[in-house]
Amino acid sequence: MEPGDQARLIVVSNRLPLVLNAREDGGWDAKASSGGLISALVPVLRRRGGVWIGWPGTTEATREEVEPALAAMSETYGCTFKPVMFTQQEMEGFYFGFSNEVIWPLFHDLFTNCNFQPDYWKTYQEVNRKFAAAVAEVARPGDFLWVHDYHLMDLASELRRMGLPSRAGFFLHTPFPPLEIFLRLPWRFEILRNLLEFNLIGFQTLRDRRNFLTCIKVLFNVRVKGTGSVVRVQVPAFGAEPAAMGPGPAQVAQTVSVGAFPIGIDFHAVAGLAARPEVRAKAQALKNDIRGRQMILGVDRLDYTKGLPNKLQAFRNALHHYPELHHRVNLVQHVVPSRKEIPDYRQLRLELEHLIGQINGEFTESGWVPIHYMFHNLGAEDLAAYYLAADIALVTSLKDGMNLVAKEYCAAQIEQAGVLILSEFAGAAAQLQRGALLVNPYDIDGVAAAIQRAFTMPDKERRERMRLLRRTVRTEDVFRWADAFLGATAKGGVAHLTNLEDYLPSAST
Ligand code: G6P
Repeated sequence: MEPGDQARLIVVSNRLPLVLNAREDGGWDAKASSGGLISALVPVLRRRGGVWIGWPGTTEATREEVEPALAAMSETYGCTFKPVMFTQQEMEGFYFGFSNEVIWPLFHDLFTNCNFQPDYWKTYQEVNRKFAAAVAEVARPGDFLWVHDYHLMDLASELRRMGLPSRAGFFLHTPFPPLEIFLRLPWRFEILRNLLEFNLIGFQTLRDRRNFLTCIKVLFNVRVKGTGSVVRVQVPAFGAEPAAMGPGPAQVAQTVSVGAFPIGIDFHAVAGLAARPEVRAKAQALKNDIRGRQMILGVDRLDYTKGLPNKLQAFRNALHHYPELHHRVNLVQHVVPSRKEIPDYRQLRLELEHLIGQINGEFTESGWVPIHYMFHNLGAEDLAAYYLAADIALVTSLKDGMNLVAKEYCAAQIEQAGVLILSEFAGAAAQLQRGALLVNPYDIDGVAAAIQRAFTMPDKERRERMRLLRRTVRTEDVFRWADAFLGATAKGGVAHLTNLEDYLPSAST
């Protein structure tokens, strides 16, 4: 389902969904990045003659240099990809700075990792203005704008300031923090007020939506109507200056819809890839390499939110407490390089490699190295082979918007006998709580016990759990997510997502 009026769709995200590669002749080639977002949004863009606006992922090329590659991609996909280029100073202040050293840690509750530099905020505003100018170049009256993620929270407000009020929806891919964490942000009023310029604001889970609603109730005294997966918020008229804002009753300026829309994956694409003979053969080779031992798989971007040190410590605990695991399991941990200019990320890599060295040093015996660690980018086919080969997937995020690795693992488990161990602080926990073994990543004894439980889990229970997981991941896929979000933008639109139940830890989990 899409908005009833079939308005043209303009998608805006910090990154375009592509990877650029430099050719030897100095030109550039663009290849679509793999992932559900592009599979879900490109067909809608194609049908409705849409445009995707974003940064092409490099500061090494000029706009003129990347344009031919984007034009070729636009031709292939039947929709337009339009670049927004960054200067080095914008990269530092907007991308590394405000987006990834302020909002990213804050929204993952890790405010001690925040670097609240006032200059970052200035550049964030400037770059949001730059994105607004790129939108203004292509937008026509009646277009619907779908803005993605924490890099672009000011976009609707910038557009209005430019006199280009568009109908716009915003989807936050990360979590939204609780009030007492959000209040640390020096620009808390501005960010919230700018978000409320969108007509629809979508979150991954009810937890995130609840946090957001609490913040706007406390800071702006708004009224919330309705109780379903999409509620309506009556937003007061704000003064032009931030100083004029603050709690207190005011005239209602506009009504904003706020919903929970857990993102999914392209289930059939992942399952189809895992079923290909060459992927099956790769998976078999991986199993042979570890000589019949159970493979515990980790796939994480190098990020302090992923709980990688906790995972390693939990694995070490498991080897201490359950010696029967020796020679019978391998932790195969892929770490994908990310945001390497940020000191906390570089530091994390050193910490991990030190810890892995220690654990392997402590437990390795002739014929068995417990942790296989790879720091690299993994192609879609290789990733599917690892998912298929893994007996257990281990996700220990300290907090995560959704965690698509967990869902991809389930989709790729076409033999249906793998066990998913999942952090209860990943957004996916709400949907996957019935089939996964949920863990508190801070409880390294608890995670160790879950590893032991997964290792010894009878085949029947493994299959029952994986069947439940796959059913949810298949039904609540990325197409359903896009339909639900776009459906909620239509007048009287209904969100169709069903698996929205909140996850609250209980003594029995
Ligand atoms: C998270 C964010 C995305 C972001 C991705 C990779 O999943 O929600 O918006 O694109 O991380 O991070 P990067 O900084 O490389 O774009």
